[in-house]
Amino acid sequence: ESTLGAAAAQSGRYFGTAIAASRLSNSTYTTIAAREFNMITAENEMKPDALQPNRGQFNFSSGDQIYNWATQRGLQVRGHTLAWHAQQPGWMQSLNGSALRQAMIEHINGVLAHYKGKIGAWDVVNEAFNEDGSRRSSNLQGTGNDWIEVAFRTARAADPAVKLCYNDYNIENWSYGKTQGVYNMIRDFKSRGVPIDCVGLQTHFTGGSSLPGNFQTTLSSFAALGVDVALTEVDVTNSSTTQYAGLTQACLNVPRCIGITVWGVRDSDSWRASENPLLFDGNGNKKAAYTSVLNAL
Ligand code: XIL
Repeated sequence: ESTLGAAAAQSGRYFGTAIAASRLSNSTYTTIAAREFNMITAENEMKPDALQPNRGQFNFSSGDQIYNWATQRGLQVRGHTLAWHAQQPGWMQSLNGSALRQAMIEHINGVLAHYKGKIGAWDVVNEAFNEDGSRRSSNLQGTGNDWIEVAFRTARAADPAVKLCYNDYNIENWSYGKTQGVYNMIRDFKSRGVPIDCVGLQTHFTGGSSLPGNFQTTLSSFAALGVDVALTEVDVTNSSTTQYAGLTQACLNVPRCIGITVWGVRDSDSWRASENPLLFDGNGNKKAAYTSVLNAL
């Protein structure tokens, strides 16, 4: 196959990228994005601060710009993200307790009502754990330890058809406290019937040539709990070809690994631009890592 999306589709998977609305006027960028990828995540435009800048006033203009750009080109869209300690609007940052709990519920209801039937999967909760596997302290965590399951139950009720994901970084190494913390939460949710369909592993890799320990075991272990897994925000310091090939192969080896998304198009578009972590260079040329991924798919 000649594109990442088409190659991934051969095994029933997708290959996606994050897109920024501010770059949609750049034709080099849009040409690559529309040609190579078949799943789109809004890099920032569907986060809480973007969608509800004032309490009770939703603004879907940038989110819809991404959504429309993608779907007009036949690309699917992942939703990112409904509840997160970061990128909250100012009014939400200053809330706590039952008022924040209520605001979280209203935010989820408002966003899912707008995108109902349009978006296949949402990152319902993002980055809720510390590196040691305990819960990250935040204003959301301060509303009570059940805030995550309340977010998932709210989302299921608002849109019974949409897939509900938990998303985090540094949950790739199986022998890591955070991985185990998230794993135990998913296992608990499954045992108690809390609705959850998928786990997103952000997969922001740094340096070296080998993958985090037992990466594929992590994917298969989550999958064995009865959830899909996806690599949701992939970037790799200096685009190590062995790491890119390895993470692609690991996903392909796990039947419930449903797709891979890189966190941007060209190195110059990346939030880690100085690390040159993506599959296209600043001029839009395919890098060696592109070929290593394509060959692995
Ligand atoms: C990043 C964006 O890429 C930046 O443009 C923004 O300034 C900060 O957020 N984990 C996530 C993503 O879940 O939403 C983050 O995206 C990167 C880390």
